[in-house]
Amino acid sequence: MPAQLSCIGPACGAAFPIEDVLYACPRCGALLAVEYPGLRLDPAALKRTWRERRTSNAPLDQSGVWRYRELIPFLDLGRHAVSTLREGNTPLLAAPQAARYAGLNALVFKHQGFNPTGSFKDNGMTCGASQALRLGLRRVACVSTGNTSASMAAYAAAAGLTAVIFLPQGNISFGKLAQALEYGALTLQVEANFDQILTLVRGLAEKTGIYLLNSMNPFRLEGQKTIMVELLDQRDWRVPDWVVVPGGNLGNVSAFGKGLRELLALGFIERLPRLAVIQAAGAAPLYDYFHSASQGEFRAVQNPETLATAIRIGDPVSWPKAMHEIRASGGTVERVTEQEIADAKAVIGRCGIGCEPASAATLAGLKKLVAAGIVKPGEDVVAVLTGNVLKDPDYIYRYHTGQLLTPAGVAIQSRFGNAPRTVPHDADRIAAVLEAAADPGP
Ligand code: F0G
Repeated sequence: MPAQLSCIGPACGAAFPIEDVLYACPRCGALLAVEYPGLRLDPAALKRTWRERRTSNAPLDQSGVWRYRELIPFLDLGRHAVSTLREGNTPLLAAPQAARYAGLNALVFKHQGFNPTGSFKDNGMTCGASQALRLGLRRVACVSTGNTSASMAAYAAAAGLTAVIFLPQGNISFGKLAQALEYGALTLQVEANFDQILTLVRGLAEKTGIYLLNSMNPFRLEGQKTIMVELLDQRDWRVPDWVVVPGGNLGNVSAFGKGLRELLALGFIERLPRLAVIQAAGAAPLYDYFHSASQGEFRAVQNPETLATAIRIGDPVSWPKAMHEIRASGGTVERVTEQEIADAKAVIGRCGIGCEPASAATLAGLKKLVAAGIVKPGEDVVAVLTGNVLKDPDYIYRYHTGQLLTPAGVAIQSRFGNAPRTVPHDADRIAAVLEAAADPGP
């Protein structure tokens, strides 16, 4: 089955060979997508095959990405190597307390934090790193707010590639920085923000021939689209009403929308869920654009600020793809404050689930969308938690001990705070503390 790189520019439509190293259309500059013209599949047979693969011991079957390889046929798997760490396979977790908090009858989280490096980036990176292997490119690079770099470092190390990582100095969590170091990446902390560094590195990639694995690399999005395939497989192909996801560089929502549209076109599902993207209020250029009357020019946010550093992005590369997918699905965009993110995150923690700050934007956004009547209490909603609770322990400690400040220096209230207590080495006094301790409640 031929795969190609297609320009998404509506007036262009150029197509390029799958082996070309391109991050944007050489003719018009628009983003590229991996497409499979003429792809025809047998949904009923494949749904059975994918289910059977769950019990297989073969590495590709065990991967929650490559299990669905018929939908991402850009490699010749008989010939090309795949870099896999058994990504995907992330659970659906019911969260009644979080549902109540948002005003919903029920809510399910698809928790991408269960991935090998703790975020959804692994779903994409297995494809990006494998494409690097196929192209024979030995050096890979990315600019990252932390999770892409952690993931790329791991997949590069596993595949014997050299990883070069560019990070905004001082603005990524220690958990993520630690991962990059541990996986052996050359780690460069640049004194600039994500958007500024990305512009710089795009130029550098062209000059040095280093392979860029940011999400404008369309192979990454091929892997991330399988998050939706796995979700539907886990739900026996019942389509939810809404899929809610945080938005930063907007690769993930673009991938989800592409995957869902392809499933619809190929006959796996009969309708699309609506996509809701939630941004942090200090880094919400898509929200501004989506809700502007004219939807004329897309305006980047010059100095994006949020404690949810994963989504501290003011000039998201994939906004045209994201807009296309949100429109195609009848979706929406919401924005949430630092306090709203912090509270929602603590509520997700109280469900025994936990996530990193950016992921909690989903629950905070849902609460607002329900209050506004856009999401109905009885609707079937899946929120995607993008990163593991241990990605940013510093944030957690500060929140629960009343020390968390917004980027502007305003104190965040620890509404669901749970500070540790120091007790003497004395059984009686500890027993007294236990007796006095109120049940923390739901
Ligand atoms: N949630 C987490 C935990 C992330 O790490 C990111 C992005 C997002 C949400 C937003 O996803 O960019 O596809 O809209 N992190 C990138 C990184 C930018 O470098 O790790 P998006």
